[in-house]
Amino acid sequence: MSFAAVAAGLAAAPAHAAADRALGEYLSAECATCHAGTAPKAGAIPTLAGMPADQFTALIMTYRSGIRDNAAMRNIAKQLSEEDVAALAAYYEGLKAP
Ligand code: HEC
Repeated sequence: MSFAAVAAGLAAAPAHAAADRALGEYLSAECATCHAGTAPKAGAIPTLAGMPADQFTALIMTYRSGIRDNAAMRNIAKQLSEEDVAALAAYYEGLKAP
């Protein structure tokens, strides 16, 4: 099954469905251009691997609300649905920290 099919199936699933790491992995392709997967990247962009899911979610909300002001992350945070955030949180929490 392709990732697109998995994502489409999840989109049709009820909102209370458990966060799905496969969806998170699929969505993380967009993040990987800036955030390295498990390796710390040179420069100021933090690594997300191993971050606790509640911390991850709280950080996304700070960009969405403008508490943290970063143009790239604000746009990204606003495009993600609640389900997307939960899936990404579960995915990154499950990655080994560098
Ligand atoms: C265009 C580059 C870029 C892309 C793409 C990007 N980010 Fe970021 N992200 C950044 C930068 C730069 C920061 C640090 C901003 C700051 O100083 O607040 C950041 C910070 C974060 C933080 C806070 C980390 C911390 O420890 O403070 C989270 C969480 C995050 N990004 C998640 C994501 C997710 C999830 C995606 C994909 C859906 C994504 N980012 C895509 C550039 C990017």
